[in-house]
Amino acid sequence: MKFFIDTASVSEIREALAMGLLDGVTTNPSLIAKEKRGFRETVEEILSIVPGPVSIEVVATDYKGMLAEAREIVRMGENAVVKIPLTLEGIKATKALSEGGVKVNNTLCFSPLQALLSAKAGAAYISPFVGRLDDRGHEGMEIVRDIRGIYDNYDFRTELLVASVRSPLHVLEAARIGADVATVPYAVLCDLIKHPLTDVGLAKFLEDWKKVGETVIRETAGAAR
Ligand code: E4P
Repeated sequence: MKFFIDTASVSEIREALAMGLLDGVTTNPSLIAKEKRGFRETVEEILSIVPGPVSIEVVATDYKGMLAEAREIVRMGENAVVKIPLTLEGIKATKALSEGGVKVNNTLCFSPLQALLSAKAGAAYISPFVGRLDDRGHEGMEIVRDIRGIYDNYDFRTELLVASVRSPLHVLEAARIGADVATVPYAVLCDLIKHPLTDVGLAKFLEDWKKVGETVIRETAGAAR
């Protein structure tokens, strides 16, 4: 499963890159606004430091406007993926852009039927928002399971990208279901490695090691060579 980070913060992206775990980035207008920098400046920096796909969302809501913004977005970097919302205009734009070789990430997906249309339109990624469904009392991961089944039934190539991830449990479930990608906030990415038993176990090992009374690196090794 690929890990994308869901942020427009360049410092968070650099930290995640340093972990060696980052396969791509997803942004949205709210995440861009949170950074309080210029849109173009932010996006171009992200595109230049990330070796993988970076999703950037259109804000036009009509077909022509979406296509015009998509053209502008793909000019910013060859790893740019155009994020398009799942509306009627959006699905038309997805079809046209995908046929023209532009990678589209269909966003704001809240039902398996929207995901079916997205795949038929040729989107590169479908982004079901699991956290926002959970917030409304619907089990978000249920639609991820449905989408996996539907895509496998017909061998659709669209990658299943679990979005609106709020906790490590969402990531675990996404991996169990066989999602292709999880896009996670930086804090969740860090939480994935944490376990109290790891910390307790490490403290005990280090305490016991003191009884050995040696160092792993021979103190004279450098001098002897
Ligand atoms: C994904 O591409 C979206 O930007 C994001 O996951 C939305 O998450 P939120 O529901 O936490 O805002």
